[in-house]
Amino acid sequence: MLVENFVVQSPNVTYSEESITSTYNYESTKLSRDEKGQWIVTPTSTEYQFRVDRRVPKLGVMLVGLGGNNGTSVMAGILANKHGITWMTKDGLRKPNYWGSLTQAATLRVGNYEGEEVFTPFRSLLPMADPNQFVLGGWDISSLNMAEAMERAKVLDFELQKQLVPYMKDIVPLPGIYDPAFIAANQEERADNCIKGSRQQQMETVRQQIRQFKENNAVDKVIILWTANTERYAQVAEGLNDTAENLMAAIAADEPEVSPSTLYATAAILEGVPFINGSPQNTFVPGLIELAVAHNVLIGGDDFKSGQTKMKSVLVDFLVGAGLKPTSIVSYNHLGNNDGMNLSAPQTFRSKEISKSNVVDDMVASNSLLYEPGEHPDHCIVIKYIPYVGDSKRAMDEYTSEIFLGGTNTIVMHNTCEDSLLAAPIILDLIILAELLTRIELKKDGEPAFHGFHPVAVLLSYLTKAPLVPQGTPVVNALAKQRAMLENILRACVGLPPENNMMMEFKC
Ligand code: NAI
Repeated sequence: MLVENFVVQSPNVTYSEESITSTYNYESTKLSRDEKGQWIVTPTSTEYQFRVDRRVPKLGVMLVGLGGNNGTSVMAGILANKHGITWMTKDGLRKPNYWGSLTQAATLRVGNYEGEEVFTPFRSLLPMADPNQFVLGGWDISSLNMAEAMERAKVLDFELQKQLVPYMKDIVPLPGIYDPAFIAANQEERADNCIKGSRQQQMETVRQQIRQFKENNAVDKVIILWTANTERYAQVAEGLNDTAENLMAAIAADEPEVSPSTLYATAAILEGVPFINGSPQNTFVPGLIELAVAHNVLIGGDDFKSGQTKMKSVLVDFLVGAGLKPTSIVSYNHLGNNDGMNLSAPQTFRSKEISKSNVVDDMVASNSLLYEPGEHPDHCIVIKYIPYVGDSKRAMDEYTSEIFLGGTNTIVMHNTCEDSLLAAPIILDLIILAELLTRIELKKDGEPAFHGFHPVAVLLSYLTKAPLVPQGTPVVNALAKQRAMLENILRACVGLPPENNMMMEFKC
């Protein structure tokens, strides 16, 4: 059973016009060792207060890479949903939806009513922005209008595209920051819509564009998300980008190792606008993270977790969690869209290889009954550009595990899917959740005042391949744990207990 709305009745929860406040006991453990070396585990309980601003702002969304496959799919998807556009295919009439979006199309359990399990849409847990109401804009280094860009992307059914053209043909992305040193040389042809000037001037232009967008559209808040081409890694060096001050000086000095994505992110932070990185490169160099923390502006990333990696972060968690020992993981991809063409250059491929590689680390580290210290499964990632398959990406994976008494278990998976139709709903979630996080404040027992979460938004981990976390925070890649973290913290904000799956009501 699905309930669209509910209120929580509890002495720990108060609702006002403007906010929901909850007092929450966080149950955890503390570990120590006594003088004999014996491990001691002590259950702990810490009181937190959460306060959520219920007023959902008019939200401006600016995508870097608006004219790409993901950017056009996001815009087309929102327009199709907003205007209820239906279209015919050989399989019959199709209706728009937001499938693949955690906030829009997934549910969570709220309890049991007379023996029946009751669920609510994720979006009903707390007040969240509605994608149909987004004011969408952004940048692209290609000057095609959004209708032409949608056609170039070859993602959507033709009959749907035809109906969307009138809505998209007059929208042209803002000129963007182009530096051929950071993306593949094969992208040069489309770069005809670029901001001129030094790095400092480019960054100032982006700041101006953000202010203008805010003013033109009278939006209360803006979120910026990078869905442009994967860049190569920027060099990280002392004196260059290791501190906020050095990064600002490097931009002023037009230092060639400051990437376009770092320039956009710097502009966003200086404008107080959250910035999310959907690609694998190291946009968030240490100096930029320091800048975000100093300005208390949310940043999140890296690299959308859409297909192969999502499966990996489920399957390896299952195998290791079941006491089986993955020893070899081999992942092949081929794709034929512009992302694939860009990734055919070794430097940009390397960024992707890195973000795809670390995804099993936490699961392996969780089970030293299976793995010796320092032992790791063989893990190889191959990506090839095959123009014919277009956006319909193929991912082939072979997982080999050692099992009981020297046996071997090999699982082979073949996944075919329109890449952008998996990524677009994730983009919506990243924006919706990032916006929500900026409206949540918390206070730990003993703290004098409410404050926001740490600006590095770990709670977006479920949606990213290589979660960006504050220094010293453990990285969690396992998908179910990432979802549980997000869900349980949002539940805590309305005074609901974490979903513990104990179902004691039915055990006596
Ligand atoms: P795409 O190549 O179709 O689109 C990227 C767009 O960015 C292009 O229109 C390009 O002109 C523009 N662009 C490049 N550099 C720019 C800059 N500096 N400023 C403004 N615009 C710029 O690629 P697609 O398929 O949309 O993917 C976008 C990104 O998302 C890629 O980095 C990809 O690796 C990443 N990604 C995609 C996933 C998916 O499932 N589609 C999954 C994970 C990550």
